[in-house]
Amino acid sequence: MAPLDESTEIAELETSGSIAAEKKPISTILLIIAMQTEALPLVAKFQLSEDQDSVFPKGVPWVRYHGIYKDLKINIIWPGKDQSLGVDCVGTISASLVTYASIQALKPDLIINAGTAGGFKAKGACIGDVFLASRVAFHDRRIPIPVFDQYGIGARKTCPIPNIFKELKLKEGKLSTGDSLDMSPHDEAAIAANDATVKDMEGAAVAYVADLLSVPAIFVKAVSDIVDGDKPTAEEFLRNLVAVTAALDQAVTQVVDFINGKFLSEL
Ligand code: ADE
Repeated sequence: MAPLDESTEIAELETSGSIAAEKKPISTILLIIAMQTEALPLVAKFQLSEDQDSVFPKGVPWVRYHGIYKDLKINIIWPGKDQSLGVDCVGTISASLVTYASIQALKPDLIINAGTAGGFKAKGACIGDVFLASRVAFHDRRIPIPVFDQYGIGARKTCPIPNIFKELKLKEGKLSTGDSLDMSPHDEAAIAANDATVKDMEGAAVAYVADLLSVPAIFVKAVSDIVDGDKPTAEEFLRNLVAVTAALDQAVTQVVDFINGKFLSEL
């Protein structure tokens, strides 16, 4: 598997964002947030209300909170709870489905995928750090056949946001996505090849769908556990989830405040 560096640039796709078509500032934002614990403080912060008349197909657990914040129409989509097991629908399948359905229904100008992530201390991550992902890729889609291998990895540059980086003191790093909280030896090698600083369970899936439908997307990830540390991941994640969500929500609010009134090309 080729590392995700400048030499693999040709194989990388850039997430979309039609600057040429810009006629008005960003108006509708779609926030995709996998966990209720991560989503609810932002629902309160932006004073959003739950959709009573769902834009989604009948019977799905997906929840939309929406409202006006400053000059923006904000939608937070939480994939809801698994109907049999009652836990948050984390992972790439739900993330892809809600991203697709939400883009179709809401026609957003910009997607923000926000959530907690595992961080690698060897790459400079600490608990509570908030990263904006410069690139995303998958680490658990192994197809060892030429070109299919690149398709599986699905490496993408995210929407360029140089002014957000300049203005807000958030870290920049590459994000690697897979459907497991833990890390198998195979995943570890693939994440290293992706040169990732943070690891989540949704980002590259959201990027794939956003790209398909030509919607620019940015990724805000707060570190809840250190993957290359000495603590068991699940325990560390659960222990830090609430505290780290506060840092995540503060960063998302800063990003949204920055976006308010701006064109995509000004981000
Ligand atoms: N979300 C929070 N911590 C994570 C980890 N270690 N791996 C994947 N997703 C995460």
